[in-house]
Amino acid sequence: MKKADIGLIGLAVMGENLVMNMESKGFTVAVYNRTAEKVTNFVNGRASGKNIIGTYSLEELCAALERPRKVMMMVKAGDAVDQMIEKLIPYLEEGDIIIDGGNSHFPDTIRRTAYAESKGLLYVGTGVSGGEEGALNGPSMMPGGSPAAWPFVKPIFQAICAHVEDGSPCCEWVGENGAGHFVKMVHNGIEYGDMQLICEAYMLMRDYLGMSADEMHDVFARWNETELDSYLISITRDILAYKDEDGKPIVDKILDTAGQKGTGKWTGIAALDEGVPLTLIGEAVFARCLSAMKSERVEAAKVFPAPAAAAPEDREAFIEDIRRALYASKIVSYAQGYTLMRAAAKTYGWNLNYGGIALMWRGGCIIRSVFLGKIKEAYDANPELTNLLLDPYFAGTMKELTDSWRRVVSSAVMAGIPMPAFSAALSYYDGYRSEFLPANLLQAQRDYFGAHTYERLDAPRGQFFHTNWTGHGGNTSASTYVV
Ligand code: 2AM
Repeated sequence: MKKADIGLIGLAVMGENLVMNMESKGFTVAVYNRTAEKVTNFVNGRASGKNIIGTYSLEELCAALERPRKVMMMVKAGDAVDQMIEKLIPYLEEGDIIIDGGNSHFPDTIRRTAYAESKGLLYVGTGVSGGEEGALNGPSMMPGGSPAAWPFVKPIFQAICAHVEDGSPCCEWVGENGAGHFVKMVHNGIEYGDMQLICEAYMLMRDYLGMSADEMHDVFARWNETELDSYLISITRDILAYKDEDGKPIVDKILDTAGQKGTGKWTGIAALDEGVPLTLIGEAVFARCLSAMKSERVEAAKVFPAPAAAAPEDREAFIEDIRRALYASKIVSYAQGYTLMRAAAKTYGWNLNYGGIALMWRGGCIIRSVFLGKIKEAYDANPELTNLLLDPYFAGTMKELTDSWRRVVSSAVMAGIPMPAFSAALSYYDGYRSEFLPANLLQAQRDYFGAHTYERLDAPRGQFFHTNWTGHGGNTSASTYVV
């Protein structure tokens, strides 16, 4: 019997769909699942008549694979992955490749890559985005791990992934060890930010402009013909038009408490670890937390009334202002996300291809958008770009958007409508373009109470001073440290 090109462990929806996708591209796939019944159901059901081999032990699975073996795990992130690696090792030989396609946390992937390599194996940790439909028809894939594994995995991954209009695959080698899962994590953080921005635009239209779901549907339909053209804007358009059984918009009946699975939180933690101001995504995570405090908010709403604010005179003009504010904030969010990736690349020794990352996200995944094409152009033109805002196209665009952005944020503030992501993005922008920030005073405070020293505008960088602020603190300074 012909051996399989790849093995897949974990026949939940994502796993099954990836198998169907691989088979449809001409690959033979051997499958295994802890609960044997799922294998039987799959091979007798969706997989029947296809080049899919059901196996009932890891030994049988590994024996069915062409060498070097490629075994892809689509199991629950966490301990299950470590357990599976341990169980697989006895059946693998030098140069075989273990692939983790789950949502693993990147430090785990760094550790597992080193472990697999210490056993003479190769390891790939890959982000897979696009949900169930993407897994079946073409996900965005972000693989990292042992570079020597890539030539073997590449033909399969680049056949099954999404492709943009010109045929380029939304899958490229990201970098060593945990780089792929790191980039997938940032993707998810950006997804949190994009969703929050859309929700803030929606809240302004609903609560400040008093618009109905149908009216907002029309607005999002129009916006999707502009620079905002993206998957998330298009599903928002469709959601707003969707009617419940009684003919009323279903969105108006959904409880306003957000869930989360933790990848946004990981992104925020990584940003704090790197000392990168990832303010928009941070606010997006916190906005979900605040939304979850529903019963407290119900009580607080009785205590603190909303301010009275007149709606704008020119509604259409204000809607266009919101669109522009959304676009400006989105540019800031991606600028922040890319800054985080640059910092992490330095910390972990990854040589990230920033244009390539934009291309991977351009199709197949939840944040796919036309806008990512512009980001790819920016990084292709200058791979060393320190901040996306400084790219000539984005710098010019930002200057055109700021008046609208300020009008929207200030109107929202006066109307008492929370805009954590819009306003955090604007504050970041204003901070970033400020030659002077008030950190001079902050350094004085630190030196006052803790003798932490400061540098001076009129002395070279790296020279540290201490002032005896109170006259009785002495002249001893604490050692300086950098966070
Ligand atoms: P199951 O069908 O036997 O539960 C998503 O949960 C997938 O991960 C399922 O295929 C599930 O297998 C698998 N999975 C979860 N924990 C696992 C573990 N500890 N070992 C093997 N597979 C696991």
